[in-house]
Amino acid sequence: MSLDYKENFEQMKIAGSLAAETLDEVTAYVKPGVTTNKIDQICYEFIRDNGGYSAPLFYKGFPKTCCTSVNHVVCHGIPSTKYLMEGDIINIDVTSIVNGWHGDTSRMFFVGDVSVKCKNLVSATYNSMMNAISIIKNGINLGDIGETIQTYVEKKGFSVVRDFCGHGIGKVFHESPNVLHYGKKGDGIKLKTGMIFTVEPMVNEGIFNTKVLKDGWTAVTKDKSLSAQFEHTVGVTDAGFEIFTKSKKNFEQPPYLL
Ligand code: MF3
Ligand code: CO
Ligand code: CO
Repeated sequence: MSLDYKENFEQMKIAGSLAAETLDEVTAYVKPGVTTNKIDQICYEFIRDNGGYSAPLFYKGFPKTCCTSVNHVVCHGIPSTKYLMEGDIINIDVTSIVNGWHGDTSRMFFVGDVSVKCKNLVSATYNSMMNAISIIKNGINLGDIGETIQTYVEKKGFSVVRDFCGHGIGKVFHESPNVLHYGKKGDGIKLKTGMIFTVEPMVNEGIFNTKVLKDGWTAVTKDKSLSAQFEHTVGVTDAGFEIFTKSKKNFEQPPYLL
């Protein structure tokens, strides 16, 4: 596997770039008064017009192109006729398929002006993901990633969601290993050059418990507190890592300067 992994990484870069560019494209539309259906439509058309397919669309019955998770929604929010309001925070999660390869990424967005509380939660979530990605290389353990995220998040006074995790990805959308966002250094499998997976911590303002609404998808915080998430798809190398889903416009975390 590690012999020809560079060809796989080239394919992942193509799929990951399209997912990232889709989030770049939708950024200008995220403001008070827009519906999450409109955001979904922009994502659908951009992916289609640039040679890809959406992986979530009809995946296990999911009805839309992207996930839109607002405020206390942890993940898998379904785009709808709901309007975004000033002060909301929203995660938009896009997975594109190009040539059979999957690129999976999500970012937080501020809807107009948001509270200091929101800003702190969102920046802690982004930093926890990037701190964890920065230690990735051949030979570390998955638990090293989990511990890095958990330590940082808890130091900031927030909690790490246990009910959802990152995942292996490539020609398949979700495959092994499960990438837990909490844990202990040295636990779990050893990373090997050529492995591809997502790092996608969900961080709650309150307790880490979640529940899924009756629609079968929307996961919310049990205590109705705010939740934030970022996601990158990464590959392991001898010397470190490659991020396949970097923004072309430097839209890594909000506020995004248009
Ligand atoms: N993109 C999500 C992830 O990070 C999965 C969405 S699957 C859906 O793994 F069906 F909920 F859209
Ligand atoms: Co994912
Ligand atoms: Co995703």
